[in-house]
Formats: sequence, structure tokens, C-alpha cells
Amino acid sequence: MGETMGVGLLGCGQVGAAVARMLHEHAEDIARRSGVRIEVARVAVRDLSTPREVPVEFERFTTDPWTVVQDPTCNVIVEVMGGIEPARSLILDAFRGGKPVVTANKELLANHGHELFDAAELGGADLLYEASVGGGIPLIRPLRESLAGDRILRFMGIVNGTTNYILTRMAEEGLSQEEALSEAQTLGYAESDPTADVDGFDAVAKAAILATIAFDLPVVAGDVHREGIGGVTARDIGYARRLGYVVKLLAIAEAEGSSVSVRVHPAMIPSAHPLAAVRESFNAVLIEGQRVGPLMLYGRGAGGDPTATSVVGDIIELARDRRAGVRPSIPSHVSPHLMHRSDQSAGPAGPRRVKGMEELSGQYYILMQVADRPGVLAAIATAFARHQVSIKSVWQEGHGEEAEIVLITHRAKERALQACVEELRGIDTVETVSSVLRVEGGEP
Ligand SMILES: NC(=O)c1ccc[n+]([C@@H]2O[C@H](COP(=O)([O-])OP(=O)(O)OC[C@H]3O[C@@H](n4cnc5c(N)ncnc54)[C@H](OP(=O)(O)O)[C@@H]3O)[C@@H](O)[C@H]2O)c1
Repeated sequence: MGETMGVGLLGCGQVGAAVARMLHEHAEDIARRSGVRIEVARVAVRDLSTPREVPVEFERFTTDPWTVVQDPTCNVIVEVMGGIEPARSLILDAFRGGKPVVTANKELLANHGHELFDAAELGGADLLYEASVGGGIPLIRPLRESLAGDRILRFMGIVNGTTNYILTRMAEEGLSQEEALSEAQTLGYAESDPTADVDGFDAVAKAAILATIAFDLPVVAGDVHREGIGGVTARDIGYARRLGYVVKLLAIAEAEGSSVSVRVHPAMIPSAHPLAAVRESFNAVLIEGQRVGPLMLYGRGAGGDPTATSVVGDIIELARDRRAGVRPSIPSHVSPHLMHRSDQSAGPAGPRRVKGMEELSGQYYILMQVADRPGVLAAIATAFARHQVSIKSVWQEGHGEEAEIVLITHRAKERALQACVEELRGIDTVETVSSVLRVEGGEP
């Protein structure tokens, strides 16, 4: 086996170091499977003095990532540094030189995917990104290859391990959100600044990438409705349990006729739903295809080793293609002729667009603190009737200062529900509407 392929590693943190270790430790197996010997040729980091447990000679490290991209011994560029810049410019530079790129960078793909795929096309190179969604769970390849013949109707997933860990601990141990977050930080499941996870930005980027492939429609982060878990309290989780539900942060995308909706928000799902069993930092995506029916992919959505598995899988695909002198026969993203039509593209049912949240319908759970007086329920019921939101169940908990109303609606239009909540907030016996959560996944 004579051929060797050099990897230029941009970043050697959690993921990059695990990639270097896997390429070294599994070198024989990888060479046998790909027909090519794959080696880390150069590595770019920010700080050369950081101790790193990686089987790569110190001389191969540099703080100048541009030299890695331009180094002729680097045949493939693996971007695992994260962030928008300089990652974006470095990838564009690699494509100008005709070099294929593997990235794990969801933030970059969800915001600049079009530009990167256009540049890849122009440079005659590939951009593979299995690790960008779901860490070690194969999601991109099944969607774009195994399911390429089917029509995806919807997907619903838990794509952020940090928030799933927090919600699991709140549900199972009765912790407050602050306590669960602090525990997640101690265990390394959450960053010191947890905003990207808790506020839903990370899940939004992943939802945009998955929706783009599932629906052959360019979806960017800005198209995705976003609500984080910040407002979810231990009380909501307690009521959810009593009603037969669990609370999860979900990424949901659905095709309906000529439009697609993509959203990230916390929701109650029945405790018997397959996603309800996804605990702690695990991720899962439930895909529903017209012909294949429901299909669930479950596993570790983050962590150095699981994520490195996806990165190395992509590197091996590039090695095999290089050996065969071909590029992957299936486009890695949306068909190139659709890329510039940001609001419309051809879906199976004709032109498609991303629709806004206000156009959707759903079922809702509402928690409000009220004055414990006669007539409170009548005023609330009148507001619901005026907005044509029908109530499925309602009851009062507690008395006096502690009185609160727990309510579940039947399916209603989002626009009507929001108007109804606005009116509830104006009723003098309603002190606060503390929670509004969507109910997904059917009856408990
Ligand atoms: N960690 C996960 O579980 C996971 C899962 C899926 C996807 N991802 C994605 O994978 C990427 C990497 O994540 P990570 O957790 O491995 O990050 P990380 O541990 O922070 O590592 C980042 C690496 O990039 C280097 N770096 C950053 N900016 C640089 C620059 N301007 N020039 C040279 N080197 C630079 C850092 O150098 P120093 O070491 O010197 O600071 C570090 O080695 C991100 O896009 C992330 O979203 C991560």
C-alpha cells in the first residue's frame, strides 16, 4: 500500500486531539479499509506551550493556520478550531487550492454554508461535515445517502446534550435549573458561558443544517424559530410529570405542502414517546420518511472521541475518493442550482419556502398565577373563547397567595394562542402567565 494522504489539522482541542489519536491508534485498520495511509502532517493551534497528549511530533505544530492550509503535504484540511473567523477564510483558501475540507463547525455551516459550498464547487473540492450535527451519531450521511430516495416528512430531535442533561436532572432529581446547570458545568457538559446551549443557538444551527439536507432547501440559522430552556422551571417539569409528559428541548422541522417549518423550543412530549427515553447528555433524532416510516438515530452528541469518529469517517471517505480519482456522486449539500434562491427552492411538491412560526398550529400548556377569587376561571375561559383556542383540561392548584391555574389546550393556531396569552396578561385577576410550553408528539 504505497499511497499516503496528509491531514492538515486546524485545531487540536477536544475534537482535534481525539482525531489525531484515532488516526494514529487505528492506523492499520484505516489503511486497510481506505486503501490509503492517513497521517497528520501539520497541526495549527493558538498556544504551542499547552501540553497535549497527541501522537504527533512537536515540529508539526504551528500557530499559523495559513501555512497548514498551504502546505503541499496537507492533502485534506480538517477544521476543528470552531468559530466563524479565521475558520471561514481558511476553508475558502483550502478550496482555492483545490483541497477538500472536513469540518465539525455547525456555527459556520449554518451561517455561511452557501458561500462555502459554492467555493467548494468552484474549487472542485468537497466539504464534508458529519460531525457538525449529533457529534458521533451518523446523521448527515444517512440523510443525504441512505434516505436520498425517500421524501422526508419531518424530523424531531434532541440535538443539544447540555440542555438535555439539565432537563433530565431537573426531572429526575428535582433540581432547579441553576443547580442542574452548575452540575453540568462541573462535569464538563456545559461551557462556563452556557448561552449558546441554554438559549438554543447551538440547536438552531444543527436544525438548519439537518433541514437543509432533509428538505433540499437552503435553511440558515436566521430562518429557524428559537426559544431556549431559560424559562422552564421545576414547577413546569412537575406538572408535566403529573400529566404524563416530560420536557425536552426539541429541534423540529416539518414539510407541509409547499412550505417547511423549522423550530427549536422546549416542549412537553408524552413520557412513552421514544425521545422521552433520551436522557442526560445523549442526543437522538427521529426522522419520518414517506416510505421508510419512522427511524431514530441515537447516541453521543458530543465529546472528543465520539465526534472524532464522525470526522475520521469523513476523512476516510475523502481518502477512498482520492484513491478512486472521483468526487462523491451525491452533492454534499443542496443542489448547486438551488443555492442562491434563499427563499424558494424546488421540493417534491413544487416550490418551497420556510414558513414563520405564526403560521403554525400546536397544542399548548399554560401556567398562570392568579388571585384566588370567584370568577377567575370565567374571565380566563372568556379570553380563550374570544381567540377560538379551545381548552382541553384546566385545574386550580393551591389556595390564596399560592393559587395557580394549569391549562392544556386543544390544537390551536400559534397566532391565536399568542394573542390569547397577551389578553390573559391583561386580566386583573391573572397575576402572571409564568409558562407557555408547546405539547408535541401526541397524547400521553
Ligand atoms: N467538543 C465537542 O464535543 C464537539 C462536538 C461537535 C462539534 N464540535 C465542533 O468542533 C469544533 C472544535 O470544538 P472543540 O470542542 O474541539 O474546541 P476546543 O477544545 O476549544 O479546541 C479548539 C482548538 O482550535 C485551536 N484554535 C482556535 N482558534 C485558533 C486560531 N485562530 N489559530 C490556531 N488555532 C486555533 C485551539 O488552540 P489552543 O489549543 O492552543 O487553544 C484548540 O486547539 C467546533 O466547531 C465545535 O463546535 C465540537
